[in-house]
Amino acid sequence: PIIKDLFGLTELEIRLARVLRLKKAVVVQGDSDQSDWVKKEMGRAGVRLLKQTARPGQVVAVAGGTTVAAVAEMMKASPALRESIFIPARGGLGEEVELEANYITSLMAQKAGGRYRLMHVPEQLSHEAYDTLIREPHIQEVLELVRSARIVVHGIGDATTMATRRKSSPELLRLLQEKGAVGEAFGYYFNRKGEIVYRGRSLGLSLEDLENVEMTIAVAGGAGKAEAIAAVCPVSGRDTLITDEAAARAILKQH
Ligand code: BG6
Repeated sequence: PIIKDLFGLTELEIRLARVLRLKKAVVVQGDSDQSDWVKKEMGRAGVRLLKQTARPGQVVAVAGGTTVAAVAEMMKASPALRESIFIPARGGLGEEVELEANYITSLMAQKAGGRYRLMHVPEQLSHEAYDTLIREPHIQEVLELVRSARIVVHGIGDATTMATRRKSSPELLRLLQEKGAVGEAFGYYFNRKGEIVYRGRSLGLSLEDLENVEMTIAVAGGAGKAEAIAAVCPVSGRDTLITDEAAARAILKQH
């Protein structure tokens, strides 16, 4: 805490929480766009928060991306986490395997010493496939677990970066641009006002389900994500945001 105050980070946290209407903001030093260790620090902060708030028997839903992966990498076992069930927040979203929620969930669970269940569902399902899959007993079971999540850990992406990373079609890229998409989370794309402008068809936690979640932890940093965080946070990260100094300062400059 003393070091934090030295850099004015506590003050930043308070201002950021107010501006983004969050219960809590955690700001780590640096810019994760510039250096990888900053992402690791965000991961460490995520682990600290998870350890502090964990309760035995809880379900933790975990989303994909490199920042949530940093939380998984830094994860350490604790008694309550050992009695937690980790589950991917959503099925595949068309990313590299290492960035998919399934993989990150299993990594986090192993490091935490907890149990996990996976959701083997491909991205961008056709209507028919979606309707069939959603009736599978195995899938139903996992979906019910996801909806019973007490905690959700998720990343936030810049809309164009995410659409490109998922190899979206030129049509979708154009559509997102036309609709002014700036941020992305859980496969939903948001405009500056935080309105959903596009949602992909994939199984898992929906934004409506977040209403029943006790605690959402958004982990996202880097000056390049400032606009995305500001758009998404008031909607989905209504509890806690773990970010870095560069993103925090850029957001506060705009508000
Ligand atoms: C994806 C999530 O895997 O990661 C997205 O599905 C999120 O919802 C994104 O926006 C963030 O990725 P990163 O690598 O910037 O942390």
